Amino acid sequence: MDSKTTEGQSTRVDEDAINAAKAHVTPKEKIILTGDRPTGRLHLGHYVGSLRERVQMQNSGDYDRVFVMIADAQALTDNAHNPEKVRQNVLEVTLDYLSVGIDPEKTCIFIQSQIPELFELTSYYMDLVTVARVQRNPTVKNEIRQKNFNADVPLGFFCYPVSQAADITAFKATTVPVGEDQLPMLEQAREIVHSFNTTYAPVLIDPVAVVPTDAAAKRLPGIDGKAKMSKSLGNCIFLSDDAETVSKKIKMMYTDPDHLRVSDPGKVEGNTVFSYLEAFATDEDFEEFWPEYQNLQELEDHYKRGGLGDMPCKRFLDKVLQKNLDPIRNRRKELEQDIPAIYDMLQAGSRKAEAVAAQTLSEVKDAMRINYFNDSELVSDQSKRYQK
Ligand code: TRP
Repeated sequence: MDSKTTEGQSTRVDEDAINAAKAHVTPKEKIILTGDRPTGRLHLGHYVGSLRERVQMQNSGDYDRVFVMIADAQALTDNAHNPEKVRQNVLEVTLDYLSVGIDPEKTCIFIQSQIPELFELTSYYMDLVTVARVQRNPTVKNEIRQKNFNADVPLGFFCYPVSQAADITAFKATTVPVGEDQLPMLEQAREIVHSFNTTYAPVLIDPVAVVPTDAAAKRLPGIDGKAKMSKSLGNCIFLSDDAETVSKKIKMMYTDPDHLRVSDPGKVEGNTVFSYLEAFATDEDFEEFWPEYQNLQELEDHYKRGGLGDMPCKRFLDKVLQKNLDPIRNRRKELEQDIPAIYDMLQAGSRKAEAVAAQTLSEVKDAMRINYFNDSELVSDQSKRYQK
């Protein structure tokens, strides 16, 4: 009796393993896909949290293809009544991308809404996901709370994890660089991949998330030191801020409220100036701008001991940030001189992306057996059936 149960179970497990193996598609290429909602200009939090790394990945030569998507349709899921904001920020985000070094020769930059195949994929994937599963998605839960939707969650917003799975799988992405808050989206995408591949045929590729490893980059606070840098909190330094605005924001920056006199010992944890220095300052920056210290550790030790004021630290941070931002701003100035060229690039990128998504959609429809007009077997089988 006992052994029979065991046998039964082991057979089932084997079947699961066989199914999983059958459902797994080994990717032929290494492909990156990532994206941003165009709801505002990009800021230093985006830069250290993802843009810097994306440029490195793009230039590493480790990837066969790189796609960066401007997720305007996703932005509209909670901005339906403010389409102008989304429309204007498509350009702002593109300018930010190009100014930090995302290179359209190496990375295909495209606009989500211009790829209708993504919406077809979304609607088929919706059949594989339950309402309860989306309700459990922690990112969706959090955002619903943050945005005070209460009972008025737009259906499109609620379904965006499914649409994001379509974005990722349409390009057969193997690698998805995102912030940590997006991990539940990737988990949901992988579930959809498994469900599709086991239900129909192995077509979709399992994506892997890549999150920032550097602790300082993970959560760059706003200049008020309160929370993550975020547009809605008005505590950002934007990549496109001019030098004077950046200096002003650094002067306002939250430090250690108990560090009243220069001679007082200071706290480095929770001190915004030091959080930024951790994310940006290199030993070369010390050599160039503040040779009294060899590195950040020495500066922090002095600050903690006491005898070091906030002002010189802020002046140093100012130099470091301006050194990082100068080339970005200069590049942006140049790009702003030829806006039609930016739209031409986006259109070419969107066309290229659409061809890739169309290929995947066609494989998806074949797998789902909704390919009536390219399936000669279906037509001949049914003819035979009725001719008898
Ligand atoms: N949800 C992402 C964000 O808010 C944007 C996004 C949309 C995305 N589709 C994607 C990111 C696909 C990675 C992959 O930042």
